[in-house]
Amino acid sequence: DMTVKEIFDSMDYGPAPESSAEALAWLADRGGIAGHYINGKWDALRDDFPSNNPATGEKLAGVTKGTADEVAKAVAAARKAQPKWAKDGAARARVLYGIARLMQKNARLLAVMETLDNGKPIRESRDIDIPLAIRHFYHHAGFAQLMDAEMPDVEPLGVCGQIIPWNFPLLMLAWKIAPALAMGNTVVLKPAEYTSLSSMVFSEICTAAGVPPGVVNIITGDGETGAALVDADVDKVAFTGSTSVGRIIREQTAGSGKALSLELGGKSPYIVFEDADIDSAIEGLVDAIWFNSGQVCCAGSRLLVQEGIADRFYAKLRRRMDGLRIGDPMDKCIDLGAIVDPEQLAQIKAMVDANTAGETYQCAAPEGCFYPPTLITGLAPSDTLMQEEIFGPVLVACTFRTPAEAVEIANNTRYGLAASVWTENINLALDIAPKLIAGIVWVNATNLMDAAAGFGGVRESGFGREGGWEGLMGYTKPKGKTAKITAPMPFTTQDGTPADPLDRTAKLYIGGKQVRPDSGYTQPIFDKSGKLLGHASTANRKDLRNAVESNAAAKGWSKSTGHLRAQILYYIGENLSARAQEFATRINQLTGGRTGSKEVDDAISWLFTWAAWADKHDGAAKGVPIRGVALGMHEPVGNIAILTDDTRPLMGLIEPLAPALAMGNRVTAVASQAFPLAATDFYQVLETSDLPAGVANILTGRHTELAPHMAAHANIDAVWSFSTADVSKVIETKSTSNLKRTWVNHATHRDWPSTIWRAQSTAIKTIWIPYGE
Ligand code: NAI
Repeated sequence: DMTVKEIFDSMDYGPAPESSAEALAWLADRGGIAGHYINGKWDALRDDFPSNNPATGEKLAGVTKGTADEVAKAVAAARKAQPKWAKDGAARARVLYGIARLMQKNARLLAVMETLDNGKPIRESRDIDIPLAIRHFYHHAGFAQLMDAEMPDVEPLGVCGQIIPWNFPLLMLAWKIAPALAMGNTVVLKPAEYTSLSSMVFSEICTAAGVPPGVVNIITGDGETGAALVDADVDKVAFTGSTSVGRIIREQTAGSGKALSLELGGKSPYIVFEDADIDSAIEGLVDAIWFNSGQVCCAGSRLLVQEGIADRFYAKLRRRMDGLRIGDPMDKCIDLGAIVDPEQLAQIKAMVDANTAGETYQCAAPEGCFYPPTLITGLAPSDTLMQEEIFGPVLVACTFRTPAEAVEIANNTRYGLAASVWTENINLALDIAPKLIAGIVWVNATNLMDAAAGFGGVRESGFGREGGWEGLMGYTKPKGKTAKITAPMPFTTQDGTPADPLDRTAKLYIGGKQVRPDSGYTQPIFDKSGKLLGHASTANRKDLRNAVESNAAAKGWSKSTGHLRAQILYYIGENLSARAQEFATRINQLTGGRTGSKEVDDAISWLFTWAAWADKHDGAAKGVPIRGVALGMHEPVGNIAILTDDTRPLMGLIEPLAPALAMGNRVTAVASQAFPLAATDFYQVLETSDLPAGVANILTGRHTELAPHMAAHANIDAVWSFSTADVSKVIETKSTSNLKRTWVNHATHRDWPSTIWRAQSTAIKTIWIPYGE
């Protein structure tokens, strides 16, 4: 007699193929060509390049390569349709609901089309991609319904250009289109060149669902078409794809005023502690790295196993790998399908073949565009394959000894998209989760996604969040007007700078100390009558570096409680209040105006406001339809460098400083260039207010000189500019070094609501924890 185990081991799965007939007939009915959907109609259908089935190599359809003129036509249609679309949230909700319904009705066609075009197992497209895409439209229909009532202070951005990758063609389309439409924007979306076909089906669904012409436009094509869309007259560019293209788009949009969100690559750690439920952690790995053959931006591609269980864990994992079925993606029993394209396959091969470190374990794979499940153990954290994104079914692994070491290795990456933590010890899991540098953390789970939960990364994984209330921020802007601001002229003297017997040279404030500028240069500052008020130091790149080093050393501030930060901000406000008269006089001397005491009052009140917010910027618990809860936690951005509004000597500094500090960031701010001496007087207020050294550094000097260095500095996590100097473009251009967040004003001023100050001062980390049944 056979044991149950033997029966299972010997059982063969007969093939259970899904039929491709209807999808192929659908394509044939439309002439076998995928092309643009502009203003509610098919447009310009040409066979410029083929879209192939990667599993068989057969051509599925010809694809139109969109030209700049065609992109412009689509953008013009979107522009024209936008005002009317923005008018009625309830009407938008009905349309989005209609899209969701029709997607559901066409779910089988969509799933088959996706699998034919991308090569992913039909099981995945049927059970994951398509249902999640539908869920996204349902969820955002609700946001459209609620917008007028719940978000009265925001309005749509306008026309959004959206560029998506090939790994989740329809799901990425849904992630981009649903929130944009919900918030009253219109869109021009470009699918990836390998995978345009499900977006064709989608555009017919749009017509059937009553989407008004011009609201949704789809332009097919490759990177050149994408670049044309980035250059077109759009108000926002939303991109998901490789970090290298993300950098190009950041540079290309620099200074344009276009909003930008980037969802880029990752090398996400998958951490298994010795007390983990090993079987679950192994099963989790199947979903982490073999789901969609590892062609997933948030794939758990870096396995970190605690030393004591490593051998046992690897052995079990290899056994599990042996059971993975790889082959025809249309077969419902298949675990791993084809790689999206021979080019991508060649890239995976080249990366793995170039590696000589560790031990490689590889399963068998069929001939053709398939890559076998692969495990490489015994790597060092710095090895190439532990650092570079492979984007294939290749898991790389190393061991760690202690929880602290696990965190260190996990964070040893340029990326910061996601992380998984496996342990049966809730204390350990919830101790580790906040320490991981990532936008998403899964506790005893992996690759969970939902429309209600924010998705997105930090560092070179990009910026911006998709999903949930936070995702809507990327498709709205606060109502209100901006006003041009021009650089104030500093006062001069006719008589040459007089000798200053008292040497009133204001130094730089770095690391809690007043220090001389590296350059040795200073600038005389006069009042309106030409009387010398003192000298201000001219900071250079080296001073900036020192300041950022002291910011980094002050990282305890970012872990401190909101309660503590509130007290200190309150104290700063009180100390400023005690010297209000002195500051008011100083401001009037500097500007030659009479608004000094109002400016001081504003600054004091703003400090108290942010003392109040310091312990009230609560996160959220998201109701996700999966066994668990997704916590939206607010974390500080890190080190923020700020060029201040130089028209207001004191408030220009306090306005960005107070919210940034309240939310736990460390700041290096450059004072008003023309009127620096109120900010330098402010050192004394900081010195008497218990603010830890290095949390706030204040430099004086030339904004245009410091701006590019701030933007290029690898340890600055965000640059804000409220300067009158024209530095927005240079900041955005140079920020590609570490893809830092930027918030620049294009030399305009506006009063930002507290929501925006808080959002800019924080990053949302989504932590998925098991909860309920
Ligand atoms: P890619 O970043 O080149 O393509 C993504 C999208 O951007 C496509 O629609 C493409 O046509 C478009 N595009 C390409 N160049 C552009 C440009 N200059 N301006 C505007 N749009 C442009 O990704 P690719 O080449 O398909 O894959 C290469 C690598 O990128 C993968 O091996 C993987 O490492 C990574 N990747 C990451 C993804 C993610 O979800 N984070 C998705 C796809 C790829």
